Amino acid sequence: MTHVQGNQVITKAVIPAAGMGTRFLPSTKSMPKEMLPIVDKPVLQYVIEEAVESGIKDILIVTGRGKQAIENHFDFNPELESFLAESGKANMVEQIRDIGDRCEIHYIRQKRQLGLGDAIRLAGHHVGNEPFAVLLGDTIIDPPAGEKPGVRQLMEAFESKQASIVAVHRVPKPWVDRYGIVDGKADSDNAHMIRLNQLVEKPAIDEAPSNLAIAGRYVFTAHIFDYLKQTAQGVGGEIQLTDAMNMLAQDVGTGGMYALDWQAKRYDIGNRVEYAKCFIDYALRRSDTGSSIRKHIQNHLES
Ligand code: G1P
Repeated sequence: MTHVQGNQVITKAVIPAAGMGTRFLPSTKSMPKEMLPIVDKPVLQYVIEEAVESGIKDILIVTGRGKQAIENHFDFNPELESFLAESGKANMVEQIRDIGDRCEIHYIRQKRQLGLGDAIRLAGHHVGNEPFAVLLGDTIIDPPAGEKPGVRQLMEAFESKQASIVAVHRVPKPWVDRYGIVDGKADSDNAHMIRLNQLVEKPAIDEAPSNLAIAGRYVFTAHIFDYLKQTAQGVGGEIQLTDAMNMLAQDVGTGGMYALDWQAKRYDIGNRVEYAKCFIDYALRRSDTGSSIRKHIQNHLES
């Protein structure tokens, strides 16, 4: 295999959104977890905005059974638009169209729930031979104030290394069995960049090689597809993306795999507590809801 040649610009992203959302039943019985609102916007819209603000033009969403609400949300809705226009709310028309107009969104369905690795494998035909970004559809990334959007930071790290790269963050040791965990050697010129030699999906707590957890954002060269084809069922009987990444990390000819240890906050929306925290944090910072919610919380704490 050859090294990626020259500087390749990333214009495509894949957003897996096919999971059943069982941790969020009963809400997810008829509504995809990616459509849960944070204040008044669905989670997936935040994810797509992050991609678009990072310079992505082309998005492939991997959906599954019962996920039609996703396609409807990013499509035109002529009835709603004319209703808003007629009732003097023309400004809202722009708001409801906005994100679907700023990028090209494509869809593919994962017919069987074979895991995250299988969902990414399905994107191979659409992505072709270009490097591409992956943003998990149930994860919101919130970088510190003034910093670039999450996946933009990874895209820039990719540009400097021209090799596949994943965002990671440190988690408390008892949590390592919920994540993909990575290990490697920090770059001599950038301690936040780690050349990976091992990636393990949901290791047992006493077997985890570190507490650096995969944070739901990735940039891959097309070499990942070679390894996804070879990936057998892993943890939970699923085709794990992390297992394919572990093989890619050993393949020096492709540039291997790097991790960017970043400071961005991450909300895993499939987790009830994280979802509630995300909702509160975003409601607190918005000018239309912030002061009322702050007062409400203060009253609660004082009573
Ligand atoms: C997936 C990945 C895991 C990653 C996690 C981040 O797991 O397989 O490597 O750390 O997302 O949210 P899941 O949450 O789908 O079980």
